[in-house]
Amino acid sequence: MKEKILTAKIEVYQLEELSEEYKLLLDAAKKASESAYAPYSHFQVGCAVRLKSGLIITGNNQENAAYTAGICAERVAINHAIACFPDDPIESLALVAQTGGKWTKEVCTPCGECRQVMKEVELRTQHPITMLLSSATEIYIISGIETLLPLGFNASALSV
Ligand code: THU
Repeated sequence: MKEKILTAKIEVYQLEELSEEYKLLLDAAKKASESAYAPYSHFQVGCAVRLKSGLIITGNNQENAAYTAGICAERVAINHAIACFPDDPIESLALVAQTGGKWTKEVCTPCGECRQVMKEVELRTQHPITMLLSSATEIYIISGIETLLPLGFNASALSV
């Protein structure tokens, strides 16, 4: 028997410690959360992605009375970015959520389905995505989806 140990590095920042570029991205995510459509969960998520060119694209969650037809903020932003700018890789992504008019106590982390989408995008664009996951008090910075989706399924598993 052999053991494999998986490790994860997460940097924890205070808002004041962020670079101007990251503050701007986080502000864009916060602004996007304001126009989320979340009448069922009342959990308004905002996501902003920064492309290599510097362009910032935002998204927010769009819920539906048929619950499973709803979509997360991350996939709205990421799919918009890659659909319109397929040759401009996503370099960083900021994620934040508010409920009842307050930023969440815990950092907002992407759901499993969004992690899978991020993995596909990283492989497709050959570019790791730096993620800023924010709460009311601190920001986790994580470099690359591998940390959030270790042993993730990908196209290489489809062949022998
Ligand atoms: N949601 C997101 O948009 N992103 C996340 O990372 C977590 C969850 C949305 C889905 C749903 O509209 C609401 O938040 C509650 O789960």
